[in-house]
Amino acid sequence: MSKERLHADLSALGQEHLLAFWESLGGDERRSLIAQIERIDFAMISRLHAERERRSDALELLSRAEPPPAIRLDGLTAAEKIAARRRGDEAIRAGRVGAVLVAGGQGTRLGFDRPKGMYPIGPLSGKTLFQLHVEKLVAAARRHGARIPLYLMTSPATHEATSEFFAEHERFGLPAEDLLIFCQGTMPAVDAESGRILLEDRGRIALGPDGHGGMSAALLAGGALDDMRRRGIEHLFYFQVDNPLVEICSPEMIGHHLAADSELTTQVVAKQDPLERVGNVVLVDGRLRVIEYSDLPDEAARRRNPDGALRFWAGSIAVHVIAAELLRRTADSAEALPFHVARKAVPHVDHISGRRIEPDAPNAVKFERFIFDFMPQARNAIVVEVDRRRAFAPLKNASGAEQDTPEMVREQMAALYRDWLRRAGAEVGEKATVEISPLFALDAEELADKLPPDTRIVEPTYFRSDCGPHRR
Ligand code: UD1
Repeated sequence: MSKERLHADLSALGQEHLLAFWESLGGDERRSLIAQIERIDFAMISRLHAERERRSDALELLSRAEPPPAIRLDGLTAAEKIAARRRGDEAIRAGRVGAVLVAGGQGTRLGFDRPKGMYPIGPLSGKTLFQLHVEKLVAAARRHGARIPLYLMTSPATHEATSEFFAEHERFGLPAEDLLIFCQGTMPAVDAESGRILLEDRGRIALGPDGHGGMSAALLAGGALDDMRRRGIEHLFYFQVDNPLVEICSPEMIGHHLAADSELTTQVVAKQDPLERVGNVVLVDGRLRVIEYSDLPDEAARRRNPDGALRFWAGSIAVHVIAAELLRRTADSAEALPFHVARKAVPHVDHISGRRIEPDAPNAVKFERFIFDFMPQARNAIVVEVDRRRAFAPLKNASGAEQDTPEMVREQMAALYRDWLRRAGAEVGEKATVEISPLFALDAEELADKLPPDTRIVEPTYFRSDCGPHRR
């Protein structure tokens, strides 16, 4: 396409500034810029920008929102537990379950300049989040004598480093054919006032990941939906990279999902604090939804029932079981999920002065889709409530913050392992640092089978895969 033609097209859209530095670009840079421009859906960007002030639908939904019903895993009888577990076990054993890990976020709050999955979090082993997740998956596959493929979503910001990390470590034991790394799409950042798409550099548009809701389109584009069909994968265990306590492919959760014939089953914990930064699972007109913490006014978050309990009690920990069919149905539909607007400080090049601008306050809007917006469309969606001590310790912030720091996450991991050890009959010092490799035991029951009688732990101890405890 000629520059004149492109300029005319962009002028009609009010975006001709994207060519402001054309004369200073080399041939490759010009071709690259054209390719970037051709990938943009300008009509959609313009519509999203025009609607940016519209307070998300959250307030309107809130007026009709009720607390959701939930299956409390800790409140079930032994027989109910066994039945759910058996059902989940069977599905895994039959190879009908895969896992999807979303790791495309930039982890800005943590202040770590590599993909968050590469953060060393094991309290004693120093294992990274990626390694812990994959070892859980490898152990679950081994336990069931099954293949459990991992579909790992990255973004342009994390793709290369993540792929190299997995290659360098031989996928932490996952067979090559059971790992598919795919990259999510992007959306341009636009100037909040004018709606102009920002230039990150003279020949490069400022792009950000399109949110984890970009997953189904990216699964389709990356060939993962075909891979699932070929393997007979019907359900995906979905989890985020930041939570080392996640019970990956929990047979119990999968069992409840199957028993309810649900297309989307989501895990929640009871919120500890009304303003806890987790999504709120609510019921609106009989359909489950998530109202993000950022969209829930403090007043509403603080509402209580007559018995004193929080009205909006159900905090999403972003762990779901999702039917592959739901993703297939929606993968090629641009309208399947709404976009959310986030105001962000986005560095860019000023198209008039050519100066680099590093704003310290939000100057731009970014558009993201969220996977949990599938909930109202899913057939028979259900909620299962888990004990946060067993299942939720998200790594979000750098040391020194009030919540979700590396130190707090490590302590929550050690606390869970101390609990498993005590339940297995061991005597464990109040504050002893312990770590149990997923390859040694995946849960308290497996640990109880392996633990020597009269185990006493007073000093830091790491239970590795190959043999028993190692003092540190
Ligand atoms: C998220 C959830 C929140 C939930 C909480 C639990 C959203 C919008 N909110 O909050 O409801 O209670 O986790 O810890 O997700 N990611 C991508 N691509 C993207 C954006 C994010 O793969 O474009 C991944 C990240 O790598 C991460 C996860 O999604 O694994 C969550 O992203 P993050 O920004 O940390 O979400 P939170 O605001 O903490």
